[in-house]
Amino acid sequence: MSRPPIPPDSLTPFEARIEHGELADKIARWDTAYHGADAPEVPDDVYDAARQRLLAIEARFPELAAKNPLNARVGAAPAEGFGTIAHRIPMLSLDNAFSPEDVTEFDAKVRRFLGLADDAPLGYVAEPKIDGLSINLLYQDGAFVRAATRGDGAAGEDVTANLLTLPEGELPRRLGTDAPALIEIRGEVYMSKADFLALNARQEAAGDKLFANPRNAAAGSLRQLDAKITAGRRLSLFAYAMGDASAPVAASHWDYLERLRAWGFQVNPLIQRCASVTELLAVFDRIGDHRAQLGYDIDGVVYKVDSLELQRRLGFVSRSPRWAIAHKFPAEQATTLLEAIEIQVGRTGALTPVARLTPVNVGGVVVSNATLHNEDEIARKGVRVGDTVIVQRAGDVIPQIVGAVAGKPRGAADFVFPQTCPVCGAHAVRPEGEVIRRCTGGLTCAAQAKERLRHFVSRNAFDIEGLGEKNIEFLWDKEMVRAPAAIFRLEEADRASPLQKLENFEGWGKRSTEKLFDSIRARATMGLERFIYGLGIRQVGEATAKRLARHYGTLEHWRDAMQSGNEEALAELTSIEDIGPAVAKDVLDFFAEDHNRAALDDLVKAMQALGGRVEEAKRIEASASAVAGKAVVFTGTLTTMTRPEAKARAEALGAKVVGSVSKKTDYVVVGADAGSKAAEAAKLGVVTLSEQEWLDLIG
Ligand code: IVH
Repeated sequence: MSRPPIPPDSLTPFEARIEHGELADKIARWDTAYHGADAPEVPDDVYDAARQRLLAIEARFPELAAKNPLNARVGAAPAEGFGTIAHRIPMLSLDNAFSPEDVTEFDAKVRRFLGLADDAPLGYVAEPKIDGLSINLLYQDGAFVRAATRGDGAAGEDVTANLLTLPEGELPRRLGTDAPALIEIRGEVYMSKADFLALNARQEAAGDKLFANPRNAAAGSLRQLDAKITAGRRLSLFAYAMGDASAPVAASHWDYLERLRAWGFQVNPLIQRCASVTELLAVFDRIGDHRAQLGYDIDGVVYKVDSLELQRRLGFVSRSPRWAIAHKFPAEQATTLLEAIEIQVGRTGALTPVARLTPVNVGGVVVSNATLHNEDEIARKGVRVGDTVIVQRAGDVIPQIVGAVAGKPRGAADFVFPQTCPVCGAHAVRPEGEVIRRCTGGLTCAAQAKERLRHFVSRNAFDIEGLGEKNIEFLWDKEMVRAPAAIFRLEEADRASPLQKLENFEGWGKRSTEKLFDSIRARATMGLERFIYGLGIRQVGEATAKRLARHYGTLEHWRDAMQSGNEEALAELTSIEDIGPAVAKDVLDFFAEDHNRAALDDLVKAMQALGGRVEEAKRIEASASAVAGKAVVFTGTLTTMTRPEAKARAEALGAKVVGSVSKKTDYVVVGADAGSKAAEAAKLGVVTLSEQEWLDLIG
């Protein structure tokens, strides 16, 4: 049985640091899979639970929040292939609410922050949360200029050409003459359910791959490098938010939406103004009741504070605004037969049970597989092969099994989890305190070796175009590629072999073979971050790879450091932000294996033979704000903002807000009727500032 998590209040700082680092890595990896590869790794509720836990830990240990790279970004970095566009104002995400209580708490927080009484009027707007991809549209002098996806929140992919395939009625090319000289308009690109079904029917007829749901279809269509393909797909757009603007456009969000409508955008017709939490919840129920009849997918209702002035005051906390929240619908469920439980072996040797189901329609998607996570989960859910089970999916994620349906005939026996690897037969062991059982076969296990290669060439690692799953499988089976280095020697080997030429195999041909060799050559020079990530070391996701690269700078330096005495190497690793002993151990374990070191060196040699190398990593830049890193105390009554507001703004600029004055304090900001803290500051010689002086300092 998995243990319930320790309440954040009972965590020691050490435990918090470790758990926080692990969660941050995991979430970064999921974010990448979700946003970068349009292929979610876990169900929404698992993701949301991890995020909630991370937030709870950060609330208790704010120093961890400051270190968390996730807080500085949303989604995955823009993919290569598209040009990159920096958003003039970051594109953020929304915090989630799952219950009426969460919504009440949201309203209470907004009021506390603004210093509003419980019964003071406070207007909201409620709008459907469209399940598509967010887009940022830039208009200059009234004319459409360019469009970018969200990317990592700071910069996205330039999808202007693709957006231009939308009709005028979805994407106005010109706004009215009343538009400001520059304005960023944000919204959601989506595919209607009807267009999705029609597209899949065409794909099927042509023998092309089917999309799992409208969101994936929209993502796949929007992120086409060839806009001609996008033109053949029907995408739609709802506008709902504002980015940068050179002049104010409206006083309220509601009025802003009116302007958008007047400029020719589609604004969702179900959007409503609300005056209380009760009204918000009534809209939630009403929209939820009509969800199935809508022509497009939605996954919740977004509530936004209506006044734009209040929105400005509320501002943002890490990755989401304080003035909005997404109230999510519960997951969609269906019942079906659990026909079998199969074990898959992943790249790190993890044995994952997968449920094979009698296909069933769950909220519009046919589901025939679901994850069972690990052996404890099977036991916890108490499901047996032969049971009728409840499956659920939320959004476009991997479906999961909720449990067996009571009162139906049960399967005969509990599932016995294998103790050996179903692929290579090696022992599968489960270390004390862990939930995952792993194959001990290492790279001699075909499943692991193949999965590692797949990971190595994947989009966020070496990103070798033309080496998808199918081709890796093929090259493996033909024994042409069994290790990463062999990829870089493929061309040479192909030239040297008169009998087994790649271009002579079915499905390859001269052109695609040449193209593959081109893209392999193009990747012979690789940044250290991607290189490290590509090695597929356990627990080293993108975020950790980035931290390692930035800490060690060069591959040589890293490799040497990992060879020094174990104690020393461990100390250095754990000194890096968010790397705890568990991750450090996995990194050292990797280097402890001769065959791993040999494979790494061989890989570098093969890259060099093609004229490539592993590039140095960029160093981390210091913060530029005038108050970054300063310790600040607020005392007395402030007139232009509430205390939480002052604290939030200071923290957003990198300052540390503390409760009491000491010699280490840099500034004491003194409001009206300040008491002993102002006196204490004078005594210790700490700089005191009036509220106005503080505002001048932070600009
Ligand atoms: S407002 C600053 N309104 O949900 C936040 N977002 O989970 C601006 N979304 O990235 C977003 N419908 O892609 C907003 N009516 C709506 C939305 C909506 C869908 C998406 C959007 C956003 C994500 C956040």
